[in-house]
Amino acid sequence: MEATISDPDPGQYFNEDITVSAEQDRKFFDIFMVVLGSLVAVAVGIYALAQVVQARTQEEYIKEDAMVQAQIAARIAPVGQVAVAGADNSHLAAPAATPQQPAPVQVAAAMSGEDVYNTACAACHGAGVAGAPKLGDAAAWADRVSKGMDTLAEHAINGFQGSAGYMPPKGGRADLSDDSVKAAVQYMVDNSK
Ligand code: HEC
Repeated sequence: MEATISDPDPGQYFNEDITVSAEQDRKFFDIFMVVLGSLVAVAVGIYALAQVVQARTQEEYIKEDAMVQAQIAARIAPVGQVAVAGADNSHLAAPAATPQQPAPVQVAAAMSGEDVYNTACAACHGAGVAGAPKLGDAAAWADRVSKGMDTLAEHAINGFQGSAGYMPPKGGRADLSDDSVKAAVQYMVDNSK
């Protein structure tokens, strides 16, 4: 039977509707509680797992490794210290536990001049960024070559402030050996004639 506007007693259908929707509500609520319960269980599970993983890795790792401790101390150290005029500031001169920076490992010793150029120098010298003489630009290199290869190598290794711009030491790659940088200079000069 269908309720129409002209129906004398629309209330009867209305009552029926209410019963149905109360049942639906209960069903929904049950499912909702199950879902909520499982999400809580998952969250607790993840938390417990994190605790276990943390206990087995971080804590032991941090406690046993002096290097790690030093690095953490350095990371959380205050960026500055206050020296008070007239007070004894001698303790400030000796910063507590500054971790020794390990010397950069020269991993790139076995690369050819071209490889070194491509990985460390091309970023600037490929396109002539910030005044860097471009690879292949004979005019830009002629004056420089006349300084002598030793000078160019020295400038590439230790850095060089010229009139055109700033050449960072080893192009910013402290891990390159001096010989690799020399090889790259040779490669650049050879290909800029
Ligand atoms: C961040 C950019 C940058 C990178 C990376 C870079 N250079 Fe340079 N380089 C420059 C600039 C700028 C100059 C020009 C400086 C001037 O003469 O004013 C320069 C100049 C030079 C010169 C000439 C120095 C002189 O005395 O005239 C050499 C040789 C050189 N670079 C070698 C290298 C080598 C080798 C690498 C890679 C290991 C490298 N550069 C990576 C920016 C860079």
